[in-house]
Amino acid sequence: MPTAQDSELLTRVGPGTPMGNLMREYWLPACKSAEVKADGAPLRLVLLGEKLIAWRDSAGRIGVMDHRCPHRRASLFFGRNEEGGLRCVYHGWKFDVAGKCLDMPNVPPQYAFRDKAGAKAYKAEERNGMVWVYMGARETAPPLPSFEAALLPEAELNSFWVQRECNWLQALEGDIDTSHLGFLHDGKVMPEDLAEGTIHRWAVANRAPDYDIAETDWGVMYGAHRDGGPGHTYYRFAHFMFPCWTLIPAGNFGHYVTARGWIPLDDTHTMFISLSWRQNRSTPRLRPDGTPLPGARFDLRYLPNTTDWHGRWRPVQNKENDYEIDREVQRDQSFTGIEGIHMQDQAVTESMGPITDHENEHLTISDLMIARTRQRLLHAAKALAQSGATPPGVDNPESYLGARGGDFVAPAALGWRDAYAAELRNSVSPTGRLRVAVAAE
Ligand code: FES
Ligand SMILES: [Fe+2]
Repeated sequence: MPTAQDSELLTRVGPGTPMGNLMREYWLPACKSAEVKADGAPLRLVLLGEKLIAWRDSAGRIGVMDHRCPHRRASLFFGRNEEGGLRCVYHGWKFDVAGKCLDMPNVPPQYAFRDKAGAKAYKAEERNGMVWVYMGARETAPPLPSFEAALLPEAELNSFWVQRECNWLQALEGDIDTSHLGFLHDGKVMPEDLAEGTIHRWAVANRAPDYDIAETDWGVMYGAHRDGGPGHTYYRFAHFMFPCWTLIPAGNFGHYVTARGWIPLDDTHTMFISLSWRQNRSTPRLRPDGTPLPGARFDLRYLPNTTDWHGRWRPVQNKENDYEIDREVQRDQSFTGIEGIHMQDQAVTESMGPITDHENEHLTISDLMIARTRQRLLHAAKALAQSGATPPGVDNPESYLGARGGDFVAPAALGWRDAYAAELRNSVSPTGRLRVAVAAE
């Protein structure tokens, strides 16, 4: 269990905090490209505890900056986005997407000091339908991340965003906590409920898998394993990738390109971002007659987005309505009575409170991956704070290309590392850049 002090270090992401500084070493998605239109209204957003606006100028360039005007701190959210810049409505100062002051019309020319009156802007770039932002201190930003899903063009991706009302770490940890699958999502699913020959049968035949875990160049990986038939092992591989990404095992390993971001908006709100290749083969979760299992819906219903700081991508099922839990369905059909795998995860992690009290947890062997991930995060944040050590993956984003999540059955004699490497070698890679390299522990 982390101490209260380490728990604080892991969960706080505002300016000047060790974890906030670690996060600021990386590019993070700020909003969808489609959320900001040329000469359109600025978008309010919160990222790493900072209140920002994103906007697009007349030429289509993106700006992400502190929402407060450098003159007398009025919010640029109310600004006029026109003719190549954003003009503050208070005294008319105008800024470009890099924060440069273009005009100080309330000041006689001999007193104007445009060079010293820049807005606080961050470097922003667009890729795969998203606006990425670099909030770190470097003059020249590091490269954008290179994991497979982040390299795919927008047309090749299915993506969705969902806000979660809790700390980023407890939200992310749901993805690397494989033993909840057999309860939260599949607690009422028996092997015979699934179509013959589907390997997901092995997952519900044994709900207490064993684990192998290794530190990697990009973070931490695990292989959960259990019996997969005579002479065979059924594996489920997943990863934590610095600073706040996961790859989960919910698909056919060789044909499953995905990434899941748990982007800290502030200490108590997280934006979940799912990126998955359109040609992915997800794990079939169908009855023998081809119909879906109860509770397994994937589509999400959203509340309308608002201009509130936390008003974007909120689901209809939320803590105000107990995620629409149906107690009859819970008794007879699904383990939770909550519809939708994503919403089941959302309900339990939000139910821990805005920031869970880690010091009162009772971690066990099934939480080994969570413990190792916390250790790596703590180590990297402390190393950055103490010696300025660059965290994993910042300057070598190619290292992410050895990571792939998914499930498969392999000969038991192979061993887990060789099974992973062999499967990687036979995997489809839409980017052509997947690498067969697993760092030793
Ligand atoms: S506060 Fe923005 S121009 Fe004065
Ligand atoms: Fe889950």
